[in-house]
Amino acid sequence: MDKQSSYQIDKIACNTEKEINRLKGQVNLFWDNEIKHYTEFGLRDGMTVVELGSGPGFVTEKILNKFPGVNITDIEIDPVLVDYAKKHLSHKGLNRYQVIQKSIMETGLLENTFDFAITRLLLEHLPDPVNAVREVFRILKPGGIAVFIDNDFEMHIMTCPHIPELRELYEAYCQSRYLEGGNPKIGRELPTILKKGGFSNIHFEIINAHNEILGEDLFLKSEGIGIPFKLVQDGFLTSKALGKISIGWRNMLKCESHSITRQLYMAAGEKIL
Ligand SMILES: C[S@@+](CC[C@H](N)C(=O)[O-])C[C@H]1O[C@@H](n2cnc3c(N)ncnc32)[C@H](O)[C@@H]1O
Repeated sequence: MDKQSSYQIDKIACNTEKEINRLKGQVNLFWDNEIKHYTEFGLRDGMTVVELGSGPGFVTEKILNKFPGVNITDIEIDPVLVDYAKKHLSHKGLNRYQVIQKSIMETGLLENTFDFAITRLLLEHLPDPVNAVREVFRILKPGGIAVFIDNDFEMHIMTCPHIPELRELYEAYCQSRYLEGGNPKIGRELPTILKKGGFSNIHFEIINAHNEILGEDLFLKSEGIGIPFKLVQDGFLTSKALGKISIGWRNMLKCESHSITRQLYMAAGEKIL
């Protein structure tokens, strides 16, 4: 496996099964908003799609369900997640996909193959995102579109009432990811990285989730305690700070008119030769 990535499912959180469920929650949290942008950027039924860093396959599942004529190739580096995705997608009765264990840095796929590419929450974990983008550019057909989605941890979950200690958690998370070669504040750089990677006609959006619109449950499922616990275990966060965050979170939820919001950054580019 590529040791350079700052996301390894068996190391980033305390429990792999719970982390897979958190990834599912995170897909569900943004999906209604996200799919609108995929179609706006050009995703259509009948296309040949590639998803890079596809993880457990939850995005692939949603796209296959929405577009009965789409075929998807998943590229995922972690053999555990490759296996999980294959089982999950076949259990859902889907068959228009293949999951290949490869790195986005060198997919081994033929050039000029795909109409549409999705890379979700992967560039932020790579030490060389520009060359990852170049590889996505290479495998797209001329006229093909690639969408890259990432966080920027300057702005993550924001609440009202405000929980000041959340900042401590996110800075601890950033410190840990930076040390492993990632860039958790990459969101703001996406258009520049796409341009360096060869793309033209670049668009840039921030997609939002809000508890008033989506309900509380989706937020709770997309967060979880696995990563914060691991940050405490690894010495990036004190257990006292984590305790204060839990109390702040509970108090915030008790407040009748509370708000919770979170953003993802989405950049799309076209391969024009
Ligand atoms: C944060 S997860 C996101 C999973 C999925 N894209 C989603 O949005 O739910 C990052 C994924 O990228 C995978 N990954 C890490 N480094 C990779 C690489 N060099 N090439 C391909 N996949 C990689 C991880 O194993 C993990 O499945």
